[in-house]
Amino acid sequence: METGKEELRIGVFICHCGFNIGGVVDVPAVVEYAKTLPNVVCADENLYMCSSAGLSLIKEYIKKYNLNRVVVTSCTPATHETVFRNACEEAGLNKYFFEMVNIREHCSWVHMHHPKEATEKAKDLVRMAVAKASYLEPLVEPELEIKPSALVIGGGIAGMTAAMSLARQGFDVHLVEKESELGGMLRYLYKLQPTERDASEILHEAVTAVKANSRINLHTSTVIKEVKGFFGNFDVILQRHGSNELKQINVGTIIVATGAEGFQPLGMYGYKENENVMTQLELEQRLKNGGLKKPKKVVMIQCVGARERTGRTYCSRVCCMIALNNALLLKKLYPDVEISIFFRDMQTYGEYEDFYREAMENFIDFIRYDPDKPPKVTSKPNGKLAVTVHDVYLKAEVEIDSDLVILSTPLVQHEEGRKLSSVLKVPLGLDGFFFEAHPKLRPVDFSSEGIYVCGTAHGPKDVNESIAQAYAAASRAAIPMAVGKIRTEAVKAWVDTEICVGCDACEVSCIFNAIEALTFGHPHVVEANCKGCGVCAAECPLGAMQLRHFKDQQILAAIEALLKPKKLRGSGENFEPIILCFACQWCSYAAADLAGVSRIQYPHNVRILRVPCSGRVDVLHILKAFLNGADGVIVTGCLIGDCHYIDGNVKAKSRVETTKKSLKVFGIDLERLEIGFASSSEGQKFATMMTDFVERIRKLGPNPLRVGAGGD
Ligand code: FES
Repeated sequence: METGKEELRIGVFICHCGFNIGGVVDVPAVVEYAKTLPNVVCADENLYMCSSAGLSLIKEYIKKYNLNRVVVTSCTPATHETVFRNACEEAGLNKYFFEMVNIREHCSWVHMHHPKEATEKAKDLVRMAVAKASYLEPLVEPELEIKPSALVIGGGIAGMTAAMSLARQGFDVHLVEKESELGGMLRYLYKLQPTERDASEILHEAVTAVKANSRINLHTSTVIKEVKGFFGNFDVILQRHGSNELKQINVGTIIVATGAEGFQPLGMYGYKENENVMTQLELEQRLKNGGLKKPKKVVMIQCVGARERTGRTYCSRVCCMIALNNALLLKKLYPDVEISIFFRDMQTYGEYEDFYREAMENFIDFIRYDPDKPPKVTSKPNGKLAVTVHDVYLKAEVEIDSDLVILSTPLVQHEEGRKLSSVLKVPLGLDGFFFEAHPKLRPVDFSSEGIYVCGTAHGPKDVNESIAQAYAAASRAAIPMAVGKIRTEAVKAWVDTEICVGCDACEVSCIFNAIEALTFGHPHVVEANCKGCGVCAAECPLGAMQLRHFKDQQILAAIEALLKPKKLRGSGENFEPIILCFACQWCSYAAADLAGVSRIQYPHNVRILRVPCSGRVDVLHILKAFLNGADGVIVTGCLIGDCHYIDGNVKAKSRVETTKKSLKVFGIDLERLEIGFASSSEGQKFATMMTDFVERIRKLGPNPLRVGAGGD
């Protein structure tokens, strides 16, 4: 076979991984089998293919056999793909001419007691990889220039800290604040826990430093109207309140530090009906401006409007500390005041536990209530408030008269934050706060490169945590700006203009602003914004939009190679189904890896095909598998809400549902198609999912479209 003028010359290298693969899979048999595959000019084995001897063997063979494609059959690409790609590059081969097969985590380790079947599976996986490799193309990783200036959106403590950090490192910063003054929520706080330092002191220091720094361009009473461009070169349009005047700035990176606001518990516990019912934030303002009349009795109610069954289901994290802090401040101001805190659970993490003890030592009462029996607040004719609650520990109704009822309400996203999310095309999580790329690996990055988040815009946190996170976001933004350029992934969307009819389905499906629908002509891929998820390619009805390295042709070649020898394995009760499992390269592939590492055994019938995201799986891929005889197809991805491309798995789910309907037309039972989700830590769940699915397909019997079904 030839692509263009080039004759395909594929080398296959199979690793024993000591005893890990070789102890189960018959490696020499797989090597001999690989030699029989189309365009394979050499195949060999090594005890450890990733050792210097193994890598030298690959490099030597590339030169000796003039190889233009390399397939390594070994362990997980998560740890070793880069090693082998680099070896190819060192031997003068473009590293995207490399394909990897995992026969350790996905084969020998999960079928330890079935060497024959594991060997057959290894052959199938090699055949699929060789077929895909035949269609691989050389790719280049584009380099982007990064402009050394940043935009920080939000002039609260997080935004000011990030701006100062970047300015001190020598970068120009545009600091944009929607209000006429800097400070955000810090302007309303009184004394900060646990130091009791005056919030206004911190505010004054930060504002003075920001205003005195010549590298910081301050834009108050200003909002972000529009953001165009990409990492390294964002064009941002600013608009001043009450003016039509627009200003354009150009920056390399963006930090979102827009803060949050306190939830207003309207209609709850007499809030706004009785002036003595107020939120913690309002109490702090009164303490700050001296507007609080000395109370004799105070009741604080925790979790007001938070941790609900629907809506604000999250814990706001800081309310317990704020309540303890304010209760202790009241005690210091008025030592004989009686304070009761009605709580569901006191969540005083870390050193704040000491704070909780201090409150108890100061005779602050803690009364636990059941969320199903929340406290009731009634106004008495004498102007006092009566608070009744079912005390969980006393198992009795308790009534307390109070002068003040203070409601601890959660921080919530504000309207401006929601608007900014759509202007920047960065996601909000289910709780409404800005959603980071990965909670552990990229906790202050958005999935969109060059945009970072910090402070309460990202979720409830106290002032210290906001400051710490602001430094983290500033560091993340500073690294590419200091280097001046970055190399981006080569796996990008690409449009075949010969086929494209300009329907714009790709543009609509892309949430990264990576596809511009042009009024005339074809869509344009903004490569700097493309994340390589392939959702646009799967949504394109004509196959005009493709994802490099995961083109339809490449995926279909692997599917066809798996199923072309349509031999029926077993019959009747001994029927052995062939299951194709699409696994996203992030969570579900990692879950399959973990099943292997944990030696969790599942049926050998499953063949995993790696895709960047479950959202890349096209209806065409699924139908091709069934039409070629797959007995079952399962698409797997990250848990809903955890997709590395935000909602690729949601799109995959709806695509699978739609495809199920069309299966009927082909006489295929819709039970043969499934979608499942697993996080990277759910190896057992992945194995169980596969076991259950294989059992289901076994009961359904062979795919009726399989040639020779019922007798080969
Ligand atoms: Fe895993 Fe999208 S990246 S489903």
